[in-house]
Amino acid sequence: MMRLDKMLAHMNYGSRKEVKELIRKGYVLVNGKIIIDDDYKIDEINDEIIIANETVNYKDKVYIMLNKPDGYISSCFDKIYPTVIDLISEYNYMNIFPVGRLDKDTHGLLLITNDGELAHNLLSPKKHVEKKYYLKYEGIITFESIKKFEEGIEIDDYKTLPAKLINLGCNEAYVIIKEGKFHQVKKMMEKIGCNVTYLKRIEFGSLKLDENLKEGEYRLLTLEELDKLKNIGDID
Ligand code: URA
Repeated sequence: MMRLDKMLAHMNYGSRKEVKELIRKGYVLVNGKIIIDDDYKIDEINDEIIIANETVNYKDKVYIMLNKPDGYISSCFDKIYPTVIDLISEYNYMNIFPVGRLDKDTHGLLLITNDGELAHNLLSPKKHVEKKYYLKYEGIITFESIKKFEEGIEIDDYKTLPAKLINLGCNEAYVIIKEGKFHQVKKMMEKIGCNVTYLKRIEFGSLKLDENLKEGEYRLLTLEELDKLKNIGDID
């Protein structure tokens, strides 16, 4: 059972405030009856919900874009630190989890879902899903460093796939990698003699971090964003 307004907001019929308004104005029918109480409890799987003549097909999957702040662990539980799931507590009951990990001090784009199949596909090493990071660093990026990234860099007895290093000047750069090894960007930068002082993921496959999201804020993916992501997941 869940609140009618919450369910409609999950389904992208508007913000919580907007859907409350629709309910109060009598646009919503539950099992053929107009319901004007926004806190009305529905059985989201079995009840028939109609909004402005359209039947609502409740989906039990949720896809969230989070702008992760510093200080949060990319997992569902931690004994010491707050987790990214703590930032999204309104969806916690849907068994959500982060797709991959960002370090505790890394900022930016993190996809959170309860769709295990999509997560598995996006994280599969075979899919080579690109991740783009913006970073600040101490040190000097040379032409040679850029070439080393293109050739792949040895870290922990592993040679990375070819990656891109784009120097922006003023000790700022973009890095694009196709894997997600532990501390990968920091270690690759270390190998060319640079120390990462700030790291933020800005793209994950086709998904781009929404610049309107402040750190700690999140929103549901649009249908277009989700379709594109699912296409990446499907490509072998
Ligand atoms: N590479 C890193 O070093 N850290 C991250 O959090 C992500 C990529």
